[in-house]
Amino acid sequence: MFKDWLNLAIIFVLSVGISLGLSQCLSTNSAAIASSSYSWNLPEWTPKPIVPDDNPMTVDKVELGRYLFYEKQLSVTGDFSCGSCHLQALAFTDGKKVGVGATGELHPRNSMGLANIAYNSVLTWNNPLMKDLETQMLVPLFGEEPVELGMVGKEAEILATLANDSKYSQMFAKAFPEEEKPINLRNLTRAIASFERTLVSFHSPYDRYRYEGDRYAISEAAKRGERLFFSERLECFHCHGGLNFSDSIQHERLAFVEISYHNTGLYNIDGQGAYPPENPGLFEITHNPDDMGHFKAPTLRNIALTAPYMHDGSIATLDEAIAHYQAGGRTITEGQYAGVGHQNPYKSPFINGFQLTERERLDLIAFLQSLTDEEFINNPTFSDPFLLSDQKELRIEN
Ligand code: HEC
Ligand code: HEC
Repeated sequence: MFKDWLNLAIIFVLSVGISLGLSQCLSTNSAAIASSSYSWNLPEWTPKPIVPDDNPMTVDKVELGRYLFYEKQLSVTGDFSCGSCHLQALAFTDGKKVGVGATGELHPRNSMGLANIAYNSVLTWNNPLMKDLETQMLVPLFGEEPVELGMVGKEAEILATLANDSKYSQMFAKAFPEEEKPINLRNLTRAIASFERTLVSFHSPYDRYRYEGDRYAISEAAKRGERLFFSERLECFHCHGGLNFSDSIQHERLAFVEISYHNTGLYNIDGQGAYPPENPGLFEITHNPDDMGHFKAPTLRNIALTAPYMHDGSIATLDEAIAHYQAGGRTITEGQYAGVGHQNPYKSPFINGFQLTERERLDLIAFLQSLTDEEFINNPTFSDPFLLSDQKELRIEN
């Protein structure tokens, strides 16, 4: 009886999965038509990301979104923007353990990189409900626990500020030509999301080596490191595989949207698998005990630039990250979070620990370093437009 029910449930899940897959394909096609005015300019080997039907990419929307991403008037203090926690030079992270908001409040988690964000099937470290860029940004804009940009209750004020700025009234009108009153919150989020989708990173030395046939783009050490990364001994690729070195991914060439969360044994506070109360991972959302300490495997692209690491920034260096995996989970010997992560009952079966020689450790690091995309962090179309105009003004004054 129970088995029959289970089979039925499996068939149901599969058929929903297939129809979801189909609708993904359909939406890809219509999105591709609608977005013809924006050219992705992607290398041939890369699939296009999926763009929502109701927010097709256009050049004008992307440019407006870029201004708004760096617009400090979108914060309660007037001196903070998305770009304050997402810095291009650091692959859109901030170099801090955890995010620090406009008023100095600490976020419980580390500011995430935004490289290839358009390919992420699910957003943030641990919230499976957070799937659209258009919606995700409402948290930093309006969230109160913690305050990030702190605009809660000031929606009308923000929109009035933008409307009074002739630059924005022109840019919104160009970006949303079909609308009589284009300056509204929905369009603000649509523009910022369009800009975020342009943040693609596929020009690392590793990409040139692996996908573009340049045998000399990376060192011999990095090539050995690649083999280690993709080996059954180290297992890294199970969770950091594919195009974006993450197993939460979607794009036009995938029939299914992939979403995964894993416990890597970073903590085991009570000996029964507990993570620190402010960061229980997926459990925070699902309240399913098995989800304790489960987080999304983030992309490893530009990983040499995005320290400190993990959801709470508790790992300072790549060396330390490798030591964590080598031990099959981190042991913390003293303090309130002391515990043996290796024995965490919710830990993934792929985190078992492994032997690594000194040379292999260096090889693995060389491979991770070959994922740094200089073009991405220097691309002028991703940069802060206000900084550029400030510099121009300075030059004129001089
Ligand atoms: C106070 C610093 C801070 C500010 C300001 C901020 N963010 Fe973030 N961002 C974070 C942190 C921390 C996370 C991880 C959030 C979590 O896991 O709950 C994050 C996550 C994200 C993600 C998900 C990334 C992923 O890989 O899943 C996106 C997208 C994002 N931010 C975009 C924005 C945008 C757009 C703005 C401006 C409207 C913004 N952020 C403002 C700190 C910040
Ligand atoms: C079972 C899946 C899994 C395996 C196997 C795995 N990782 Fe991870 N990785 C994750 C998850 C999940 C996180 C985030 C964990 C957290 O924040 O608690 C992560 C985080 C990282 C980070 C930090 C990323 C950041 O932006 O903070 C690095 C570096 C990393 N992994 C490297 C590796 C390497 C190298 C290997 C192989 C030795 C490996 N991983 C194996 C799932 C995995």
